[in-house]
This record gives sequence, structure tokens and C-alpha cells, in this order.
Amino acid sequence: MYKAVEVLPGQGTWWVGVNDRETDLFEGLWTLPRGVAYNAYLLVGAKTAAIDTVKGGGEYEAKLREVLGDRPLDYLVVNHMEPDHAGVVRRLRRLYPSLTLIGNAKTVPMLKGYHGIEDGVVEVKDGEKLDIGGHVLSFHTIPMVHWPESMVTFDETTGTLFSNDAFGGYGAHEGGLFDDERPRERWEGEMLRYYATIVARYSGSVQAALRKLGGLSIKHIYPAHGTLFRKDPGLVVSLYDRWSKQDADGGAVVVYGSMYGHTRRMAEAVCRGLSTGPHRVSDVRLHDASRSDRSQVLADIWASRGLVLLSCTYNTALYPPMASLCEKLANSMLKRRVLGLAGSYSWSGGALAALKKFADAVKLDAVAPEVEVFAAPTDADLERCADLGSSVADGISEFKG
Ligand SMILES: Cc1cc2nc3c(=O)[nH]c(=O)nc-3n(C[C@H](O)[C@H](O)[C@H](O)COP(=O)(O)O)c2cc1C
Ligand SMILES: [Fe+2]
Ligand SMILES: [Fe+2]
Repeated sequence: MYKAVEVLPGQGTWWVGVNDRETDLFEGLWTLPRGVAYNAYLLVGAKTAAIDTVKGGGEYEAKLREVLGDRPLDYLVVNHMEPDHAGVVRRLRRLYPSLTLIGNAKTVPMLKGYHGIEDGVVEVKDGEKLDIGGHVLSFHTIPMVHWPESMVTFDETTGTLFSNDAFGGYGAHEGGLFDDERPRERWEGEMLRYYATIVARYSGSVQAALRKLGGLSIKHIYPAHGTLFRKDPGLVVSLYDRWSKQDADGGAVVVYGSMYGHTRRMAEAVCRGLSTGPHRVSDVRLHDASRSDRSQVLADIWASRGLVLLSCTYNTALYPPMASLCEKLANSMLKRRVLGLAGSYSWSGGALAALKKFADAVKLDAVAPEVEVFAAPTDADLERCADLGSSVADGISEFKG
């Protein structure tokens, strides 16, 4: 976006964020095929207050100046210290020497640690207010969504929640900033992918945050990444509620790890079993653990009730891409899934046993049959894989918990 955008016309509320189309991996891990936006905001009243900064700088500072002209920036609210939002705090302090930084008790030591800043920092308590003349701001901590110091800022005057990473999504802006300027499918998938990769582990904290923020009369939700919500903020609150309760849809994801294709054939038989029979699943997604985009695999898993994992054995253990997927899922505290497992081997075995350990770790009971195949799957083995798919389909249709 080439200039600052007034996101609440006539109400002194500006978007001064930046698009990033160069970073190809967010956190060095997650693909950004459509880039990412760092949304930062500027409130102009009797005093001026910036909410969050960006990764990088340059263009951001030019946008601030474009709105502020010769006025000083009085406050910077630091909702979150991760460098994608607090990257230019030190530079901003140099540009506006009288700038007062606002954070909570957990922000203060991080400001010192990351930027060596101790002076001119005001520590706000949960719920505390700041009147900048024309905007009354209140600050609400949302611990572990997704860092300890994470906080949101609510503009009580305009009903705008500056929600930081909460409700954020991947994808740079392509002209439109708002939910009514882009089709839902353009932002929802990217928001789910952000949730599954960044926020999922902290779903319990998300539930606590939703309860806590439920008392505010929110008219707009302006997050620190992706689309801004002014048409239907309730929709994204309900999506976050569902994802954080792990209230998945009825689809199924099948992920396989295979070197020579035998385990892939087993996975295809599982998919066939899922797609046929009395409780057939219409939305089946098959992923190769080695090749499918990991963030998309996680997003699909987060949205689906059924999950079937199949792995060949590799040096007595799980095939490495499957091992890393299981590690991430366990770290994300996956639950409320209908799980199916299958392994292949030709000497000692080990993959199926390792998948069962994963199931134990996430406290899920795998449905019968668990399939273990020696060398190339026989026709009977493939039928058992199809039976596994049908059992998962049955489990999805009967799912209550
Ligand atoms: C590098 C390598 C390591 C393997 N390690 C084991 C092992 O430790 N135990 C075992 O039972 N099979 C092991 N296998 C055999 C495979 O698990 C078996 O061939 C399986 O059918 C491969 O499935 P795929 O065709 O889907 O790759 C190994 C195979 C390879 C190539
Ligand atoms: Fe973050
Ligand atoms: Fe972020």
C-alpha cells in the first residue's frame, strides 16, 4: 500500500502498516505465497498515539510523517514485542525523542532486552485507560496469545479493537484492506493457516481472551496482520471460538510419509475407504508429508475432524517428515480428532509403534484397524487400509466429544 489509509474516516484513525512481499518464510518456517502485511495504526487526537510498529521501517516512518506532518508522536503502544511489530521501536524513539512507550509489566523487561530502552516507558495495568483527547484507549492483556506480554488496545471512542496477532492472517494487502473489500475465501484460508501455525498451541489462552474481551462493545477488529474487519467482526470472533475449541468440520486429512510409494498406495486406499460407504466423507485431503506445504497440512488438519497418518519405517523410527509433523501436532495440543494409523516396514518395524506413541501423547484413541504392512502391500493389506478409511468415516459421523 503506497500511502497511509484513514480506516475510520473523520475519526483520526489511520492504517500506517506495510506489505512484505520479500520474506518467503514467516518465522523461518511458514511459507508466504501471498506475502504478509504488518498492520500498524496511528491515532490522532489532542495527542498522537501509534499502535504497534512493523518489521523493517522505512515506508512505515514515511506514512507516519505523511499523517503527522510536523506534529510529534506522543505515544507508542506496544501490544506485542515480537520483532514483526516492535522491530522499529528504537528507531522511532530516535525520530521522536519525547515518545512515551506504553506496555504492561511483561513488556517492560522485553523493551530493555530487545532495545535497551528503560526511560520514557509507562507500565499500564490490565484495563487501565489513557485519554489522548478524541480517543479513550483501554489496554487488556491477553497472555499467551501468543506471547506472555501480548495485549490488545481498545479505542472506546470508536469501538475499535486493535487486536495485534489475534485474528491476524497471512497475505499482503492487494488494494483492499477490509473484509468488505475482499471475498471471504481470500482471507479465511490465510487466517486459518496463521492460526494453525502460530496460535494453535495457545487455544486455551484464546478461549480465556475471548471471554475476557466479550464485555467490550466491539464494532471493528483491526489486527496486526491481514484483513481488517469492519463489516462482520462477529464472524472472526466465531471462527476463533471454533478453532480454539478444536470444533472441526466433518472432513478428513490423510498424510503419508513414503520413499518408494508403498505407503502412498496404502494412503490412497484409506482415501477410497473414507470416500465410500454409508458415512462417506466428501472433503478428503491427501498430503505427502515430504512435499505438501507444511503450513497448509496443519491448516487442513485444524479444520478437519478426521486424521489418518501413515508412515514407512526409517532407521527404526518414523519417517523424518512424519516425525516432525507429529511433533508439531503434539506441541499444538491437537485433540478432538478421529484418528487412524498405519505403518509399513521391511525389517524391524517401528513406524506404527511410533505413531501409537504420538496418539498416546495427544491422548487420542486410534480407531480400528491399525494397519501394519510388510514390504509391498498385498491386495488384502490395501483392503484393510480401505477399512481403516471407512472406520474413520464412521467415527466422524458418530463423533460426539
Ligand atoms: C533408508 C531406509 C531405512 C529403513 N529403515 C527401516 C527400519 O529401520 N526398519 C524397518 O522395518 N524397515 C526399514 N526400512 C524399510 C522401509 O520401511 C520399507 O521398505 C517400506 O516398505 C518403505 O515404504 P515406502 O515404499 O512407502 O517408502 C528402511 C528403508 C530405507 C530406504
Ligand atoms: Fe507474534
Ligand atoms: Fe505478528
